[in-house]
Amino acid sequence: MKILFAAYDPQPERWTDLIAAQLPDAEIIVWQAGLPPTGADYALVWQPSEALFEQERSLRAVFNLGAGIDGLLRLPNLPRDIPVVRLEDAGMSVQMAEYVAYHVVGASRDMDLYRQQQAEQRWKIHRPIKRSEWPVGVLGLGHIGKRVARTLAALDYPVHGWARSEHALDGVQSHAGQAGLDTFLSATRVLINTLPLTDDTRDLIDYRLLSRLQPNAVVINVGRGEHLVDDDLIRALAEGQVTRAVLDVFRQEPLPADHPFWRTPGITITPHISARTLRDATVEQICTKIGALEAGAPVSGVVDVQRGY
Ligand code: GLV
Repeated sequence: MKILFAAYDPQPERWTDLIAAQLPDAEIIVWQAGLPPTGADYALVWQPSEALFEQERSLRAVFNLGAGIDGLLRLPNLPRDIPVVRLEDAGMSVQMAEYVAYHVVGASRDMDLYRQQQAEQRWKIHRPIKRSEWPVGVLGLGHIGKRVARTLAALDYPVHGWARSEHALDGVQSHAGQAGLDTFLSATRVLINTLPLTDDTRDLIDYRLLSRLQPNAVVINVGRGEHLVDDDLIRALAEGQVTRAVLDVFRQEPLPADHPFWRTPGITITPHISARTLRDATVEQICTKIGALEAGAPVSGVVDVQRGY
């Protein structure tokens, strides 16, 4: 069995050694542009080039080294007749949950203010948090969205969730589809985006949507940069409808040095680190699935390429 590893990593052996340990009989090849066709059976990819699918014609499955497959769906020649499998959790949802919780707690507990007071050697106590004033709304209730919603519900924040279809989740009020979007937005002060990027969700977070949130809104984007209309966020911040935005993902990454987000008051920027792909958990998950496919068994996490996630 031949396995192709096609993801940018200056030290691909950090991956290939782990794969070899799990699948000792496999031949593991690191993809390079210009390489002759390898005849690989399986490919592990992250934002591969179109050339990969041009030349690799005997693939039996493609494994995406991340949760979001938008980087793959951009390729016109992504094979449609073999399973495309995305990463399922693999240690990502807990990281997302802690990243989001950190920012929700920080905002609702006035941590910036206390930090500022410390710098001024000032001892001043502000009124305690009223959780009813910090309702959160999670866009997207996949593995990641669910974990985020549950974590915040466990901290007693009022939590709403929105997805294409209704989801039953303890402590989370679920809203579905276009019909449910209005009630979701009007119930939400802290908007958290965990949606997959599809034609339906691109540019979803625009000025109109931001205007429908509760006053003094906070936006946390851990989905994709293309979900958010950059200028609309800047306008909503300038007008005070949104008071703070935490952005981990951007239309262009790295975020260009001249992008206005760097200088917009109220924006916190992190470089796409809210949930890192963890090598051990990822390789173990994928190798287990390769074993299942080899044995003719079904695997979970197969993407509906038409639907986009
Ligand atoms: C990262 O952004 C991922 O999709 O896993």
